[in-house]
Amino acid sequence: MLTKANHFYEQKKFAAAAKLYRRILKKNPEHFAAKANLAVALFEQENYAASIPYFEDLCRADAANPWWHNYLSQACQKTGEGKQALDEAWRAVVISNGQKEHRLNLAYTIYEVADISGRRVADSILKKWQQKYPHDAIMRQCYKSFYPDENFTCSEAEYVESLFDVFAPDFDNVLADLNYHSPQDIADILAAYFGCNKPAQKRILDLGCGSGLCAQAIKLKMPDNYFVGVDISANMLREAQAKKLYNHLLKCNIFDCAAYLKKPFDMITAADVITYFGAVDKLFALVKNLLRSGGVFVFTVSENTVNQKDFFLMPSSRFVHTPQYIEKTLLKNGFTIWQNKPLVLRTEGEKDVVGRLLLAVAN
Ligand SMILES: C[S@@+](CC[C@H](N)C(=O)[O-])C[C@H]1O[C@@H](n2cnc3c(N)ncnc32)[C@H](O)[C@@H]1O
Repeated sequence: MLTKANHFYEQKKFAAAAKLYRRILKKNPEHFAAKANLAVALFEQENYAASIPYFEDLCRADAANPWWHNYLSQACQKTGEGKQALDEAWRAVVISNGQKEHRLNLAYTIYEVADISGRRVADSILKKWQQKYPHDAIMRQCYKSFYPDENFTCSEAEYVESLFDVFAPDFDNVLADLNYHSPQDIADILAAYFGCNKPAQKRILDLGCGSGLCAQAIKLKMPDNYFVGVDISANMLREAQAKKLYNHLLKCNIFDCAAYLKKPFDMITAADVITYFGAVDKLFALVKNLLRSGGVFVFTVSENTVNQKDFFLMPSSRFVHTPQYIEKTLLKNGFTIWQNKPLVLRTEGEKDVVGRLLLAVAN
């Protein structure tokens, strides 16, 4: 029965697997493998409340394994047990001695619980984290999005790299569910800018290329281009590589890419990337230097609708910017703005994420 159940489980047929695991547990309530797989199968079916007692048992029986605490924290977060979700996420961090998956889960749990139950509930865990691991970049990013600091002007590189390394295998599916369409918007605005004058082969640099969605969308409209992608996350680059769209992929921080890129580019794209930068002056100066005169820079930004600050780090750990600041900084760095269009970038929970799509030409 176990072999059959495991077969269903491996095929992600979780309902059928759960049924068999329950039968095994009826005969042998302490069967560890059946309990472990049943808990995960229930979780995968989004039956979070039913999974909780099994994960609690597993935490007791297999105390040194941080993943049971991680799962339990996620299940509790989904069922609105904010305090337990935070405690379990914290336990996973401590037991794993700070493994990045568990630190990211803690940061996300703090954000979600604070959003639903108020920040007072999450604050004590955040303080504990800061005291025990003061040099943790993921903690620092999380802390700064709770306690705004004007000197924090760019996301922690280690935070961004860890986040997207973990997120990479699910990125395309999750973003499709969030109705993310910036790559298509970027392809459309480029097609509109060039009109009928379909450009001959152009050199395009895709900053923060991620899994390659921009190249995919642009290639549908302008197939014969030379694409270079830059990203800090090796796992996102692996996804991009699998799409076989880029002529060259570079793993580095955007701020370091100029050293590897000799010839100027005709177009530079950055879809949903500026949100990881607060101050954009240095970034726009870099883009200007990488473009030929007359080259275009196309990108999206999330809009700051919460206050008057040029840029602001939201509790979600993403920066939002005012359109005035973006425009001013483009002009200062030698760009002419061809279009600055308000639009909904994607959804987040029930809410729309509002932002702008810009096309700027290097003077
Ligand atoms: C939300 S994803 C967007 C990916 C892609 N542009 C798209 O639209 O699907 C943001 C990407 O930017 C990358 N990124 C953010 N900051 C970066 C930096 N400083 N250097 C290199 N890559 C960065 C991340 O690793 C991630 O892959």
